[in-house]
Amino acid sequence: MSFYGRRLRRLRSSESMRRLVQETVLTPSDLICPMFVSANITSRVAIDSMPGIERIPISEVAAEAGKIWDLGIPAVMIFGVPSVKDERGSGAYAEDGIVQQAISETRRSCRGMVIMADVCMCQYTTSGHCGVLNGDTIDNDPSVSILAEIAVSQARAGADVVSPSAMMDGQVAAIRAALDEAGFGNVAIMPHTAKHSSSFYSPFRDATECAPKFGDRKAYQAPYTNARESMREVESDVAEGADIIMIKPALAYLDLIAETRRKFNVPVSAYSVSGEYALVAAGARNGWLDLDAITLEMLTSIKRAGADMIVTYAAKHAAKLLRDVQ
Ligand code: PBG
Repeated sequence: MSFYGRRLRRLRSSESMRRLVQETVLTPSDLICPMFVSANITSRVAIDSMPGIERIPISEVAAEAGKIWDLGIPAVMIFGVPSVKDERGSGAYAEDGIVQQAISETRRSCRGMVIMADVCMCQYTTSGHCGVLNGDTIDNDPSVSILAEIAVSQARAGADVVSPSAMMDGQVAAIRAALDEAGFGNVAIMPHTAKHSSSFYSPFRDATECAPKFGDRKAYQAPYTNARESMREVESDVAEGADIIMIKPALAYLDLIAETRRKFNVPVSAYSVSGEYALVAAGARNGWLDLDAITLEMLTSIKRAGADMIVTYAAKHAAKLLRDVQ
């Protein structure tokens, strides 16, 4: 007696059958591991709102990169916390800046690692904003010139990919031109393309001391209410020469990841941000969520939505879990 012709349970009947029909497979090769490198510490410092994540001094970078590499993760994303801030964020493009040093340390310990570096100003400016000020507004074009200078200094230090996160208009075109001009035509650009003004960033702002000293970032980051506007961000970055597009945050923005995947033939990355990590960590600490299972489910869902790669604070944890399954 057949109640219903389509019995989807046939293909769920055993572990082997389930493996056979599995559509989305997460691997360590999909992951990009962030690193917070601080000029103000001499040993590792835990970040309270991001359990398991630390700020590390420059002396720990080589070892940390080695651990990440040994887990099969192909890329790191380096964020810096400088010792001084000024109006122009000059620490971000200093030849011996914290990120520039971290890039060369990483290269020294892991030749094959894809080294990505964050190109932004908010950790380096006294205002905590992602550009220079003109009165109370963040002045787009002068900021873009500085971002280009930051990108070139990171390329000079050995970065493979520069990743502007400032959401200034024209930043990708300006960085491409500056890199080419300086002889870094092979350095790729992965902008934070559709980076939304989000409350999911607070743990990161604690970790890197980059919260804005006044106002918020709504005049430059994209509104989470507007999907078409986010697609225009993607169009612009593709036209300006972005090599990889990024949607950020990830979990609450899966629709935008899927739409970008459908509409554009460029690699798509998703940034599963600090708040997403903190939510899961808090739930697990309370015994309400299974940390291992949720970590893999979240990352696999982001990949299923269409992300080719995921920047995630759970990269090392997930890579260990994936290795143990093999
Ligand atoms: C700053 C920057 C932020 C993040 C990445 N780069 C914070 C912000 O825009 O305020 C957030 C990342 C995260 O929350 O994990 N340019």
